[in-house]
Order: sequence, then C-alpha cells, then structure tokens
Amino acid sequence: MKRFIAFILLLTPLFGFGGEDERIEAMLSKMSFDDKIGQLNQVDGRGDIGQLEAEIRAGRLGSVMNIVDPKLLDRLQRIAVEESPAGIPLLFARDVVHGFKTVLPIPLGQAASFDEELVERAARNTAVEATECGIRWAFAPMMDIARDPRWGRIAEGFGEDPFLAGRLAAAVVRGYQGDSLSDPKSMAACAKHFVGYGAAEGGRDYNTTYIPERLLRDIYFPPFRMAVEAGCASVMSSFNDNDGLPATGNRWLLTDVLRGEWGFDGVVVSDWGSVAGLVPHGAAADNREAAKRCITAGTDMDMSSRSYLRHLRSLVENGEVPMEVVDEAVRRILRLKMRLGLFEHPYARQVTTSDLYSEKILDDACALAREATVLLKNDGVLPLSNVRRILVTGPMADAPYDQLGTWTLDGDKTRTLTPIRALREIAGKEIEILYEPALAYGRDQSTARFGRLRSLARKADVVLAFVGEEQIMSGEAHSLADLNLQGAQREMLELLAGCGRPLVTVFMAGRPLTIERETEISDAVLYAWHPGTMGGRAIAQIILGEASPSGKLPVTFPRCVGQIPMYYNHKHTSHRADGSEGNLDDIPREAVQSVMGHTSSYLDVPPTPLFPFGFGLSYTTFTLSELQLSDTTVPANGVLKVRVTVENRGKREGTEVVQLYVGRKSASVTRPIKELKGFRRVTLSPSESRIIEFELPIDELAFCGADRRTAVEPGSYVLTIGTDSRDGLKEHFSVK
Ligand code: NOJ
Repeated sequence: MKRFIAFILLLTPLFGFGGEDERIEAMLSKMSFDDKIGQLNQVDGRGDIGQLEAEIRAGRLGSVMNIVDPKLLDRLQRIAVEESPAGIPLLFARDVVHGFKTVLPIPLGQAASFDEELVERAARNTAVEATECGIRWAFAPMMDIARDPRWGRIAEGFGEDPFLAGRLAAAVVRGYQGDSLSDPKSMAACAKHFVGYGAAEGGRDYNTTYIPERLLRDIYFPPFRMAVEAGCASVMSSFNDNDGLPATGNRWLLTDVLRGEWGFDGVVVSDWGSVAGLVPHGAAADNREAAKRCITAGTDMDMSSRSYLRHLRSLVENGEVPMEVVDEAVRRILRLKMRLGLFEHPYARQVTTSDLYSEKILDDACALAREATVLLKNDGVLPLSNVRRILVTGPMADAPYDQLGTWTLDGDKTRTLTPIRALREIAGKEIEILYEPALAYGRDQSTARFGRLRSLARKADVVLAFVGEEQIMSGEAHSLADLNLQGAQREMLELLAGCGRPLVTVFMAGRPLTIERETEISDAVLYAWHPGTMGGRAIAQIILGEASPSGKLPVTFPRCVGQIPMYYNHKHTSHRADGSEGNLDDIPREAVQSVMGHTSSYLDVPPTPLFPFGFGLSYTTFTLSELQLSDTTVPANGVLKVRVTVENRGKREGTEVVQLYVGRKSASVTRPIKELKGFRRVTLSPSESRIIEFELPIDELAFCGADRRTAVEPGSYVLTIGTDSRDGLKEHFSVK
C-alpha cells in the first residue's frame, strides 16, 4: 500500500489532479480503517522505544511528541514511511513555547515589548533551532487571555488584552511557519488553548470557567481568530469546561465557530488527555462516550489518551459515529502533513553547520529581553553613572535555571547569561563589583548572611538587588494564592533600603507580583520577567545605560491579591469605581451606612492598580501633541486615520510605545471603558519629534451587541492616544 501511495504522489501531477484535495482523497481511499484511526492518535515518545517502534510499524500513530534527537526521529520516521501499512510519515511535536535551545523571555515578557517584528523574528529563530532537531509542530503560541496573575500559566501567554495577544500570536505564527510550511525550517504553529483556559476560577489551573458567549466573542475569541487569519495550522482545545461544556467535546466551539464561522481548515488537537478528561469532568460516563463526543465535536487528534485508538472502531461499527466524521479528521491531518512537505521530505533537516545558539539568534534573544524589561520607577539612579563600586545581591542575580522561566524543555542553563556574569563582563573593568547573593534561592528564609550583606551595602555606591520567583513557581499547575515575594526577600530589601545607598530592585518573575512595598522602598525598579538565556546581558545593558528601557506592561499590576481580577478594559459600571482612597482611618465610627458614598471600590485599598496596563518608563520623557483625526464621522466599513506628534523631550535617545484606545459611552450592551486598537514603537533622538499615523479600520470596533451579532454599532466613540492605558489625548468621532 505504501508503495501505492508513493506512486500516487508521484503521478498525481501528471494526471492533472495534483491539487491538495485530490491527493488527500487518493490517499484516503487506499487507507484501511486502522490506518485512519492511527493517524488520529498522538503519543508521548518518552518511554519504551521498542514499544513505540512496534506501534509505528503497525500504523497506530499519526504523531509523536517530545523526542528531540534527530537521529532517533529519523529512525522512527523510516519505520513509519517504509514499514507501516500506509507509509504515512509521522509528525513530530514539542512544546516549543518561548525559544528552543536559545530561550527567549517568557511570552508575557515578550508581550511587554509591543514589538511584533522582533517577536516574529525571534520565533523564526526558534523554528530554525527546533527544526534542526526534527520538530515540525510546535504547541505554541498560547494566547489565553489572563486577568488573574495567581494563575501560573499567565507566564505563557501575552497578558490581558485581546488585541495585543492576537497581534503577537499572529507574529509567532508567521515566525514559526515562515513563508511556507513546506520549508524544512518551518514548523506548524498551534493556537492554544481554545478557549477560556486563562479564566479558571480563582486562578486555580484546570478549573471551571464561566464565560458567557458575549465575553467569549469580545475578549477570548479574538486572539484565536487573529491567529487563524494569520494561517495558524492547528488549534489545541483547552482542558476547562465552560458553562458546563469541556472544550474538547464542544461542537459549537470547534466546528460551528472555529471551522464554520472562521473557515479554519487545519487540525484540532486535544490537550494532553483532554479527550479522556471528559470522564473526570463528569461530561462522559466512560472513555468510549468521551471519544464519541470529542470526535463528533471536531477534535481531530487525541493527544495521549488513546481513547480514539481504543473506541473509534466500535463507535463507527455501531453506527454511533459516522465514518465520514473519522474521514474528515484524517483528511485534516493528511493535509497538514502534506503542507509541511512531509511526504516529500519526511526526515529531519540535514544541516552541516549548527544553527543552535548562533550569534544572530542570541542577539535577537537579547534584544527581545531588553525590550521586554519594564522600568516601573526611577528616582534618577538609573542608568548608573559615576559609580565606582556596586553591590550585586539577591537570589536571582545568578540563577541560570530560574531566569529561563517555565516551559524550557530544551534550554541549557549552562548557556544562560545571568546578571552577575553580564555585569562583570560589561563593566567589570571600570566598576568594582561586590557580590553577595544573601539568599540561595527565592524561597530561602535564612537571614544568616544578612549581616555581611549590610556591611557590603555600606561600602557600595549603589545596590542592585535581583529578586523574584523561581522557575518552579510559575507555569502549568503552579498557581499561587499569595503573590508577595517569597522567602526572606522582602526582609532583604528592607535591610538594603535602610543602608542609605540607592537601591535598584530588579524583579525576575513569571507573573505580576504584588510589589507595592518593594516599589516604595526602592529608588528604581525594573521588571524583567523571566528573561531567558540572554536576560542578564539585556538587564545589564539597561542598568549601565547602553540601552534605554522601553517595555510596557501587558497586564495590570494589582496592589494586592484582593484586588484581582483587575484589568484596564473593564466595563462602565452604574456606580463609580473610585471615591475611597482605601484608607481605613478615613472611615468614621458609628456613622450612617451611606457616609462613604456609593462607589464600587474597596474600603481598605485604593481603587487603582499599582501599575496600569501599558505602563512603562524610559530614561527620557516623551510628550504627545496635535492629535488629529482624518474625519469626525466615518462609515462602518471605513478607515479612520489618526495622526499624533511624538516628541522626545529628554537628553537621551529612547523608544516610546504609543497606544491607541477606543471606547464609547453607550451602546446596545454595556461595554469596556476603552480597548486597545493600535500601538506603535517609535525611537527618537533627543529633541526629535515625529508625526506618526495610525489607520483604524472601523470594523475593528465590532462587538457582540444585544442581538448577539458581532457588528459595528453606529454612534459616538472616544479615541485616546497615550503612553499607557490610564490617560492621554482625546478626540471624538462618530460611526454612521
Ligand atoms: C499540557 C498543556 O496544557 C499544553 O499546553 C501542552 O502543549 C501539552 N500538555 C503537551 O505537552
């Protein structure tokens, strides 16, 4: 049979039916039922290789995950192509989430760059590295909207905003998939987790979500739709149930919306075991019923649960699942393999020179880590100047594993440039660098070295404290109820702040931590997330003034956990969300209930976040002026042109991220106060000013109205251009 398929592939162009569909039909018509079911089965390749080989030989696998040795992959592929009944090549998959060998900043950090071009370039580099090891399918990008930093996987996505997340997800898709999927340096991307996974109750991973359809359509769907429009080859269903329906078995989601409304023709893969997961969810009595629900919902490939392998035959034979449903899933998988060129080139890319950790790839990773770093406070101590002696301290100053962040299956920590290494490398000759980690790791409670720390701090001109989260504190199944610094880290900062030397605090973490006190006692604060392999150099360059920070927060920083969820694009409410300053001393004793007014705020915390979405300082200052709109009234299918002048008022070159938000006062349904609809990075020399122009297609303003249709509603809108989500220049326009 495999010879027959190879023969068909060779001859189809000669007979004029060389189209993708014809090739697929020709192949499908020659496959046995077992061959077909085999294509729908994906397993983890770690484990018994002999057994894996036997399964491949028997044609029971369509895809294998988690093997990155190209020689072994080629050996397995040879079995699939030459010895399995249908001779269909395997598709090798891996969680290539933020970098491969060269680890990039966590996606949440990448999002802080607001730089689609650089994110795309870095993703392309990642594809080059991963395909060198034989991986042609990456389970990324993740674009789950996250409004709750307790959720450990907030690290893995692009934050709270659908527009930013969608733009960056599309950039990763373009980077991974390149100009053509069939380029041996391209890998299929996977938009995950469809959908709502980031809205888990209380930030507890895998937990229930309740997202009504309107919120799905307005907030949770858009990034996926943007990834699909960018040509994303696959989508992964999520673990969670939403409003009672586990995503992997939700036909409305996977078939009606994804394929019907959006025209997606790629593969839907379940998340790990999420077909069988319907059973513990209580949405199927057993695996067989789970398999039936998921295949009919539109989940093509069963990741690791083997439910399809075990039950599809009997389900089809009993007439419970139509054969056509199975055929359709197989077609999609064959199509993906065809688009990847696997039938022509099934084996790992044969390269003579190694692309792993190349200079270019490392440079781009460093640039991304630089752009990801957000300056949250600066009393003037940064960039360092005229210092002779610095003290470097804290558990993250030299934590080569931790700074790589979650999901770094392939990164090698011995390649990590930590801050202490980089500072010594760049400035070790001119500046005396004292080093005392004080705490061995983030959760370390021991204050035994604090005495020495104090005496070293007193000898230094400036103290650089590197604090944050260990890698293991964030990521999948690593949710936290408390977002304060762990161990004795805050105590360490308090001690340092009391030493009378300027204190620069650098956070490395997988999520927004609650850092109000730390910010208050520091003279400057940088938030570098988990910045990856080159993070230390990027941070050192910023501290030493070789680069000016330009990162902007892709997620709101709450003051305390009790404020969560807190996000900038919240709704208008009937009662204001301000009023109380959150000071308990302002509250009178035994007064009438209404004495504090009727506002939607807490009595004990200010109504504002610690830092808003889009916030980030630079070493220079920018002003915006002369906001002009091309029209005051625009048709619903029109484009509004927006011009604004940006000026660098300072003495250094710098980059500003100009942000465009749109909101409206009233509509057929209540709406967010504002929503990001454009952003632009602008680099300006001292005193330079530039006019920048945005084009706002009005159909970007569509939302799910009272009639449940997503459309642009006529009426008046407020456009704000600013340097964060709080405020900015405003203009009104109407849509007719
Ligand atoms: C489970 C995770 O949720 C998903 O993101 C990942 O791609 C799969 N495991 C495969 O490792």
